[in-house]
Amino acid sequence: MNYRHAYHAGNFADCMKHALLVWLLDALARKEKPFSVLDTHAGIGHYDLAGDEARRTGEANNGIVRLLAAAAAAPELAPYLAIIRRLGLYPGSPSIIRALLRPDDRLVCCELHPEDCSTLRRRFARDKQVSVHGRDGYEALTALLPPAERRGLVLIDPPYENPEEFDRVVNGIETAQARFPGGILAAWYPIKHRAPVRAFHAALRQTGVRDIVTAEFLRRAPLDPARLNGCGLLVINPPWRFETDAPPILGALLAGLGTGEPGAGFAVERLADE
Ligand SMILES: C[S@@+](CC[C@H](N)C(=O)[O-])C[C@H]1O[C@@H](n2cnc3c(N)ncnc32)[C@H](O)[C@@H]1O
Repeated sequence: MNYRHAYHAGNFADCMKHALLVWLLDALARKEKPFSVLDTHAGIGHYDLAGDEARRTGEANNGIVRLLAAAAAAPELAPYLAIIRRLGLYPGSPSIIRALLRPDDRLVCCELHPEDCSTLRRRFARDKQVSVHGRDGYEALTALLPPAERRGLVLIDPPYENPEEFDRVVNGIETAQARFPGGILAAWYPIKHRAPVRAFHAALRQTGVRDIVTAEFLRRAPLDPARLNGCGLLVINPPWRFETDAPPILGALLAGLGTGEPGAGFAVERLADE
């Protein structure tokens, strides 16, 4: 396990994933009934963008730093940026999710890296609505689903350190869907070049899982397999209006973070019908 999210926190991929995550959580909060969120690959919860790791890559400068510096943020990004501003130290997914829980909602986090897991545990030590597990996030899909609330979201955000990660995500989605058919599943994926993403989508179609939408954001045409050219968020059982509301959010991100490079753009498409 070499991946440390501290090097990448605040990059364009984080902004894309978290802006849509905020929308999904707002959608869950439209109904009064409590919900639960399982964050299978949680990270440490907060990141210091002025710290060594973040400064070494400078990735946040083309991500959250740029969005926050924009004179007038697009209204589509306002709910997301309001949370980032409110939380101060740059928040990872567990802190963003925690900020949007109501008193009866719950967050369950899994983080396999022992040091990162301890950091996350300390962060939520006195928080009764959050539990942190030092376990494999994929294994948790079997062990911890369905939640007692029977409504909620599963966020699958692995590091994609090796090519098999796409297969693990497909298997994880099948497991999660079988155990928690009504749950919203959101899985982030990198877009370096098209071939692995096509294979990933084809494998998902073959599972027979229904009601899948992909939201993709490209900084440039995905032609160089050595670069993170874009990313996607796969959403299963998307809440009402996701397909209408996600494109303007991605459009606002493109306006705020656009590179002007050929092939930059975004798309929200249905991969499998309801
Ligand atoms: C992309 S980062 C997560 C970022 C976080 N979701 C956020 O948005 O702030 C992926 C995390 O997964 C952890 N990880 C890697 N393999 C794992 C596994 N099998 N189960 C749980 N965590 C894992 C890594 O240590 C890393 O912290």
